[in-house]
Amino acid sequence: MNLLSLIKSRYSCRSYEARAIETDKMSYVMECVRMAPSAVNRQPWRFHIVEGDEGRRLVQQCYDREWFKSAPVYVVATVLTDEQWVRADGKPHGDIDVAIAVEHLCLAATEVGLGTCWVCNFDAALCRQLPGMKQGEEPVVIIPIGYPAVEAAEKRRKTMDEIVVKL
Ligand SMILES: Cc1cc2nc3c(=O)[nH]c(=O)nc-3n(C[C@H](O)[C@H](O)[C@H](O)COP(=O)(O)O)c2cc1C
Repeated sequence: MNLLSLIKSRYSCRSYEARAIETDKMSYVMECVRMAPSAVNRQPWRFHIVEGDEGRRLVQQCYDREWFKSAPVYVVATVLTDEQWVRADGKPHGDIDVAIAVEHLCLAATEVGLGTCWVCNFDAALCRQLPGMKQGEEPVVIIPIGYPAVEAAEKRRKTMDEIVVKL
């Protein structure tokens, strides 16, 4: 699959099979995450792979949707706020770094037949209670991951003319 085909076949998967994810597939996906670029190569991130019952219950409370509960695994991506690069004008870049790494995750998952969905509309204060969260660590996004139980919906995107500015 070339890159454009891979990008087009990724979609927000909102229903998963109960079947477990093979360890080698998860390792491959996380290696793609680890190779992501970041501002000044700070890598100001951590990824909590939540698959145990207790952790899953807590994550599910952070985003109370029926479909969300079907995922066998959640990856909670966090920014290490003390390690992120901050531009001279004060703009912190940790969220950007985490977003790049997380899209690596989503594309790698697609490549190996797994579904994902970006979830940012969650209770971050509750999510911070996950065991293993460090001081200064902020949850950015939760990615449910597993074998898809639904097909992709049609892609709705702006046209090229709407998004490209040529000078
Ligand atoms: C930063 C970000 C946050 C998102 N948060 C949520 C969310 O909280 N819940 C949800 O169901 N989908 C969420 N989505 C998924 C978007 O709705 C989805 O990517 C968009 O509608 C395009 O559809 P597609 O991913 O299937 O191409 C989020 C996507 C991004 C990139």
